[in-house]
Amino acid sequence: MAEQMWGGRFAKSTDEMINEFQASINFDKRMYHEDIAGSIAHATMLCKVGILTEEDKNNIISGLKNILAKIEQGDFNFSVDLEDIHMNIEKRLTEAIGEAGGRLHTARSRNDQVALDTHMYVRRETVEVINLIKELQTALTETATKYKDVIMPGYTHLQRAQPILFSHHMMAYFSMLSRDFSRFKGVYERCDIMPLGAGALAGTTFPIDREFVAKQLNFDAIYANSLDAVSDRDYIMEFLSAASILMIHLSRISEEIIFWCSREFSFVELDDAHCTGSSMMPQKKNPDVSELVRGKTGRVIGHLMAMLTTVKGLPLAYNKDLQEDKEGLFDAIDTIKFSLAVYAQLIRGMKVRKDVMLKAVREDFSNATDLADYLVKKGMPFRKAHSVSGHAVHYCIENNKWLEDLTMDEFKQMSDLFEEDIYEAIAPETCVKNRNSYGGTSYSQVDMQLALADKILAQE
Ligand code: ARG
Repeated sequence: MAEQMWGGRFAKSTDEMINEFQASINFDKRMYHEDIAGSIAHATMLCKVGILTEEDKNNIISGLKNILAKIEQGDFNFSVDLEDIHMNIEKRLTEAIGEAGGRLHTARSRNDQVALDTHMYVRRETVEVINLIKELQTALTETATKYKDVIMPGYTHLQRAQPILFSHHMMAYFSMLSRDFSRFKGVYERCDIMPLGAGALAGTTFPIDREFVAKQLNFDAIYANSLDAVSDRDYIMEFLSAASILMIHLSRISEEIIFWCSREFSFVELDDAHCTGSSMMPQKKNPDVSELVRGKTGRVIGHLMAMLTTVKGLPLAYNKDLQEDKEGLFDAIDTIKFSLAVYAQLIRGMKVRKDVMLKAVREDFSNATDLADYLVKKGMPFRKAHSVSGHAVHYCIENNKWLEDLTMDEFKQMSDLFEEDIYEAIAPETCVKNRNSYGGTSYSQVDMQLALADKILAQE
């Protein structure tokens, strides 16, 4: 018979292909740390309530610590026959310490054990994701500060709309990441609930102390319903949902960076160390990082869809379908962590071409709103001012001019409200400076955003 731990009821060993098909060890082994910590806490509790002797407990704990060291040294033989990380560890423990190892699983099922490990794993990784978000926010703030006064065209419909500060644009992403930050904090909160003690589904006949285990493992709360404890995968769906939204934010900045560093825009230049070349075209410098992050966004969204679909319509309590929760989750964790880390570097290395951006602003009609606002401030109703400004743009297009090139005479023909100060009113710096409403692009509003960002980064 193979080394399965539930072989008692079976007359035959599992078919080899089935064995491989149903095993999760190849991916769940990454939770070895959580599995061992959970088992140590469980054994300590079993001893405390009188189910395990002090001697058995000590043997179990030192045996588990040996296994931990072996795994960390790469000296542990994971077996597919033992299906998952839980049985791999328990079997090796029993081989090493004898009978006491066989007592560890008292009052526990793999159903609550896998739930425990996954909660702990997600909790740990969520903290790392949160720190990486903060790191990217710091990079964005640094870059915004470094290029604080650079003016660029702001777009709607990818048509030039109104002049804005480049720093304002960067800080828009900072704000998005602040929401990502708080979403992941929410994930942490709802993940910080301990499922252990649920048994297979219905609780246990043993007088366990769940509070004690939760305290040892630093859990804030305990699942109040054993069926829910082993069936809940909401925290994984939430993690993947927060991960998908985060990636969508990164894919939006990626798209912008990709076209900003195209020849057509030339607004920014990425560091050579962050780009790749072409095997055929010697002149190429490609923004692969941004393209990859944009591409990987689809993959993370895919993991969310897969998880939602797996759990949809699944009856209580544990079903093997739930083993499908891990590969997508792990891949999403790796993907978002890598993407965030790489992005902080990319942003820090990005050079902003102030002259090109300003030239772009000067050679467009993105000050047409300011022209209309000028007339409104002189008493004209906005609708009429909008029309006068629209006619001025039309006139300029016909005569191959920009609004700033119009002579005082030409202005006067359009409205006698125009005076010499119109030139100052439609200069890009004025357009930016005057958008001083709360959250606007003015120099002082952006300064406020930067100051707020420093505060947020200091307290988060
Ligand atoms: N490998 C399983 C998983 O990842 C562990 C729980 C198995 N429980 C069971 N009754 N087969 O979900």
